[in-house]
Formats: sequence, C-alpha cells, structure tokens
Amino acid sequence: MSKLEHNVDLSRYNSFGFAARAENFVRVESLVQLQDAVVLARQNRWPMLVLGGGSNLVLRERVPGLVIQMGIVGRQAQPVGRDEVLVTLGAGEIWHPSLIWMLDQGYYGLENLALIPGTVGAAPMQNIGAYGVELEQGFNSLQALDTETGVLRRFSREECCFGYRDSYFKSAAPGRYIIVDVSFSLSLQPRPVLRYQVLVDELQARGIEQPHPRDLFEVVCDIRRSKLPDPVAVGNAGSFFKNPLISETHYADLQRQYPALVAYPAGKDYKLAAGWLIEQCGWKGHTRGSVGVYARQALVLVNLGTGTASELMLLADEIVQSVEARFGVTLEMEPRLYPA
Ligand code: EPU
Repeated sequence: MSKLEHNVDLSRYNSFGFAARAENFVRVESLVQLQDAVVLARQNRWPMLVLGGGSNLVLRERVPGLVIQMGIVGRQAQPVGRDEVLVTLGAGEIWHPSLIWMLDQGYYGLENLALIPGTVGAAPMQNIGAYGVELEQGFNSLQALDTETGVLRRFSREECCFGYRDSYFKSAAPGRYIIVDVSFSLSLQPRPVLRYQVLVDELQARGIEQPHPRDLFEVVCDIRRSKLPDPVAVGNAGSFFKNPLISETHYADLQRQYPALVAYPAGKDYKLAAGWLIEQCGWKGHTRGSVGVYARQALVLVNLGTGTASELMLLADEIVQSVEARFGVTLEMEPRLYPA
C-alpha cells in the first residue's frame, strides 16, 4: 500500500488552482497499489475521486473520502502490419509529452490534440477533441479497473460509447471504472487532418504546402497559446461549457435575428459557438471578485488567484441564465464539479 496522507492541499493538483483539501489522499504507481487503494476506500465507505491532471475539474473547498492520484506510467509500442502501430500508455502519463514522444517515434494521427492539458487516462473520459480530431479517432481500446468487482476489464472503442466530450465512463457509469492504460492505433504514414479552416489558413500563411504532422503540431500549439491561458499562469480548465447543439428550426430562427451567429452543421442539428453567445451577452473579459471570463476566449473561465469553486459556479450560473434569456439556449458545463 502506498502512503496514505490526510488533509492534503490539492491546489497544485487542479488546473484552476483552487485551494481544496482532501480528507484522505494516496498516490498510486501500480495496478496493485490502485487495487489496494480501492479496497481501502470500500472498507471505509469513502467516496473516491481519481485525479489525473485535474484539468477538467472544479474542486470545492472540502473533498471528502479518498483522492487517488493516478501515477501509473509506461509507454509501449507494437507494430501492426507495415503501416500501423499499437501504442499503449499508462493512465498517469501526461498527454502533451506523450504526444511529443509519439511524433518523435513517427507515430501519427493525434497531432491536432497538441497542448491539451491533463493525463492519458483522463483523455478518453471526455473524448478530448480539438481542431478537427477527437481522441476516438486514434483510439484502439483501454483497460479499466472495475471498483465494484476489483477486476480489470478491457473496453473496445464501441464499448466506450464516445460522443462529443462524452464517454461511457463519464455519463453511463460515472465513478465505477478507473482507467489504467489506453491503447492507440496510430499510422506510420503521415496523414494530416486539415478539416479546420484556421489550420489551413495558418499553414498557408507560413508557406507550408505539404504539411508534415510536426507542422500541424506546431501550428496547433501556437493557435492554442494565442487563445487559451496557460493554467500554470492563470487557473482555468479550458472550455468551461460545451458548444450546444440546437435543431435546424431553432438555428434558422436565431440566424434570422442574429445574422452573425457562429454555427456549424452537425448531422441534422447545428452546433453553436458558445464563446460567441457568451461574448454577445457582454461577459468577455468580465471579472467578478477573484474569478472571471478570459479576455481572449469567452468560453474559458479563470481563477484570478484566490477564487473558489463557489464563486466560479455563481458566475457560471449567471452566464448560463443570460445566454438562456437572450438566445433560448441552455449551456452545459464541461468540467466536472466535485463534490457535485
Ligand atoms: N468565438 C467568439 N468569441 C469568443 C470565442 C469564440 O465569437 O470569445 C467564436 C469565434 O467565431 C470562433 C468560434 O467561436 O471562431 C470558435 O472558437 P474557437 O475556435 O476558439 O473554438 P471553441 O468552439 O470555442 C472548441 C473546443 C476547444 C477546442 C477548439 C478548437 C469545446 C467545448 N471546445 O472551442 O476545446 O480547442 O474548439 O477545436 O468544444 C476544451 O474542450 O477545453 C477546449 C479548449
């Protein structure tokens, strides 16, 4: 069993930098240590929170039960035929350096997901996505510990039920499984995904006609740095709300009233840019005490230093209400609030 600590300050374990305290805390670096921690929590009837990078989390001041910090690392690669490779990463590996490692090895497919904060194990939870690629596209399978039975189970892509910022683990069985490793099917041949116009424009501006995945990686990093605050400097959890889906009728109605509305077709529906809706309601750059709305991206809420989850949730509620009142659209929070 790894060392059990009490009343632990979690401010450096969550990207908002909120000063939360864990009643009990343990870091696990192997499957056996994880299994021990789960048994301990079950014996004490403690609720469990597994922390990856804490980058999609809004932590309240007191965190009851057991916080398990995921520290299972490891990187393996196995060739599959001539063009493919199966890469398996421990859940505690940090996403961005793992992506750099993949690129250095010549394993391609996930480069559009550069600079996303957090760990490998957290990535499938919400099917991380950016610049035209979602995790599920390079995903092969994962292994997760069932906290109810103590048994390790492999999940195929279908079984993970990936959706937009969603998975089986996030919505169907929240809290039941702890992801321990993730396998990706990657290409040995560069296959850049250039579905996002901003990427095409930026590559063109740099005079790059046949972009290598490394070029794409650089461009994505630069665009993200220009729009999103670095959590080390300013506490945040990336997009605070999901981009809402609305029906075609609702879209047509809104478009008539607001010709500048930013929306993208998504199947039968339309996906709205929540950042645009929030900006229209006058929130961009607005601060309230120690929390606020980022001045360069209205979809990002920030902790200006000594903010708390309660302060942030009050601001978030007001934003939701104002967007609802003006556009008839309900914004859904993206990070997890804990305890809920
Ligand atoms: N916009 C505004 N004002 C703003 C922000 C955005 O008008 O303050 C409009 C602009 O027209 C802009 C459009 O919204 O062109 C889209 O903005 P952006 O490209 O910044 O992307 P997003 O829709 O706000 C989503 C993801 C991001 C991901 C980017 C790029 C969600 C919830 N967010 O943001 O993911 O990096 O697209 O693919 O889907 C995250 O999930 O934490 C995250 C950062």
